[in-house]
Amino acid sequence: MGVFNFFTRDIAIDLGTANTLIIHNNKVVIDEPSIVALNRQTGKIIAVGHEAKQMQGKTHEDIKTIRPLKDGVIADFDASEKMIRKFISLIPGLKGGMFAPALRMVICIPSGITEVERRAVKDSAAHINAKDIRLIYEPMAAAIGVGIDIQQPMGNMILDIGGGTTEIAVIALGGIVVDKSVKIAGDVFTSDISYHLRTHHNLYIGERTAERIKIEIGSAVEELEHAPEDLAVQGRDLITGKPKEIIVNYKEVARALDKSISRIEDAVMETLSQTPPELAADIYNTGVYMAGGGSMLRGLDQRVSRKTGLPVFLADDPLRAVVRGTGIALKNIDKFNFLMR
Ligand SMILES: Nc1ncnc2c1ncn2[C@@H]1O[C@H](COP(=O)(O)OP(=O)(O)O)[C@@H](O)[C@H]1O
Ligand SMILES: [Mg+2]
Repeated sequence: MGVFNFFTRDIAIDLGTANTLIIHNNKVVIDEPSIVALNRQTGKIIAVGHEAKQMQGKTHEDIKTIRPLKDGVIADFDASEKMIRKFISLIPGLKGGMFAPALRMVICIPSGITEVERRAVKDSAAHINAKDIRLIYEPMAAAIGVGIDIQQPMGNMILDIGGGTTEIAVIALGGIVVDKSVKIAGDVFTSDISYHLRTHHNLYIGERTAERIKIEIGSAVEELEHAPEDLAVQGRDLITGKPKEIIVNYKEVARALDKSISRIEDAVMETLSQTPPELAADIYNTGVYMAGGGSMLRGLDQRVSRKTGLPVFLADDPLRAVVRGTGIALKNIDKFNFLMR
């Protein structure tokens, strides 16, 4: 290793539908919502990340906010490239400029992504002066991030519930044996809550308010040991048009989320039923590992455990499990032959 390697230009990116995280020199240097605010006329970036999220639902006709990766696919290539470029420019200590050496990066992508989208991610990276670009599938990164030794001849199941997609995979010997990606995840939970309040209370709320309800009092089960307190929620009355407030209880939120959670459970059961018996035997002992922001919903681990009859483990800091795994892949870039060029 030469002297100059000390100043690495290596980065690991988790390009999530809800959040983008970047690791540089073993540290998470970017952890921001995957949102850009653009000037509608000029197409110029006004804000990215947290700052753009603040503007969501509050824009006027000159500004629009875009989630370039909504629904688990890259819905807007141009905006996503602008966003990545901006985030990279914000990394402290990663000086760009004309004479800077090329970047080396590992990018984590959803396993349900198409060939065209995969190319587009690589092209975007190439446009920002990246030379050595490797891709890793999200369930692999999540598995590495929760601490599974993925190279072992041992089956492990990982359930990664993000914003746009839930990815379920069985991994063994450094590869994905069975996987399933469903478009039911955190975003759908959020819209379930909005829909419920609209139809049951005539209360119209924005996406940010609905997400806040989910995070503060959301639950997957109606009986929680540590129940969160009722929450006062404000929005617009659909009948009178006036602003109003109602009090929401977690049990009501659990009922609103029930259908979507059942669909995730069904996908887990289906994945288990497609798992080769030797690996199923392993999983009987190792259980299910959960990662991603959506997995933090209260009681979800309990519910999945009840449904599958398996022990369920929630990752430490579930929102960062995937980027941690991607960072470990970056360090082992020459050893992990499952990384895609
Ligand atoms: N405490 C929490 N409880 C429930 N959901 C949460 C919590 N924190 C974050 N989320 C949800 O997690 C999702 C984002 O998870 P993340 O793993 O970052 O997604 P992605 O990988 O798709 O970017 C969002 O839908 C967000 O609302
Ligand atoms: Mg993710």
